[in-house]
Amino acid sequence: MPNPIIQVQGVHKEYGRGKKTVAALKDINLEVQPGQFLAILGPSGCGKSTLLHVMAGLEQPTDGRILLDGVDVTLISERDLPKVRAQKIGFVFQSFLLIEDLTAYENIEAVLWPNPEITKNKQEDMTLDVLREVDMLERRDHFPRQLSGGEQQRVAIARALVNNPPILFCDEPTGNLDSKTGDAVMKIISKLNKDKGMTVVLVTHNEELARYAKRTLRMKDGIITSDRG
Ligand SMILES: Nc1ncnc2c1ncn2[C@@H]1O[C@H](COP(=O)(O)OP(=O)(O)OP(=O)(O)O)[C@@H](O)[C@H]1O
Ligand SMILES: [Mg+2]
Repeated sequence: MPNPIIQVQGVHKEYGRGKKTVAALKDINLEVQPGQFLAILGPSGCGKSTLLHVMAGLEQPTDGRILLDGVDVTLISERDLPKVRAQKIGFVFQSFLLIEDLTAYENIEAVLWPNPEITKNKQEDMTLDVLREVDMLERRDHFPRQLSGGEQQRVAIARALVNNPPILFCDEPTGNLDSKTGDAVMKIISKLNKDKGMTVVLVTHNEELARYAKRTLRMKDGIITSDRG
């Protein structure tokens, strides 16, 4: 078996202090193999987003370790973390989080990690490639407000892909979309897993969507209650 691409070891996450402390994650241990498609299910407030944020290095755990591709992200300095995140992960949010006054094209190009070895032409090619991948090439000069929710999410997926990371984290990516549009977005995510071998971790509370995944993890009150597939 290859080395796991994600390792979560003894992770705790607490918010607040003293009597108001909320234990969002309680001793989470988890390994994800390269190319796996994992869904995390569970009721509102059980810690799904917290786990995803901690795995992606967007938030630090209170205790424990997270290794992405063998690199312990809990040990990386704040200065170096954005670079490591750009190389290792793409993140898709429920609310798209596109920048309103940038076009689709500019939203994507803006997150290309500054790298002197990548020429301007190459950056343009990379941006156009991912736009093509989500079938948004024609709409590249449109601003987010000129795009439907599904189109905005496709641009957000392209943005998550442009640095060619091995791991894609998706937090309720279809939560703001109607079911037909949501299905189209899920098909794109599924295709990235199947055709490009991307590791996908999908948070959802929708049992139907979890069927796209090969492995399903259920959470309750900050712990993993089942792990199947
Ligand atoms: N920044 C924060 N400060 C304080 N408490 C927080 C913070 N973020 C999350 N929590 C708490 O941690 C727990 C887990 O929250 P989390 O957002 O991970 O849940 P979730 O499973 O993603 O829920 P949902 O399905 O509603 O998105 C909740 O009790 C929540 O109130
Ligand atoms: Mg959430």
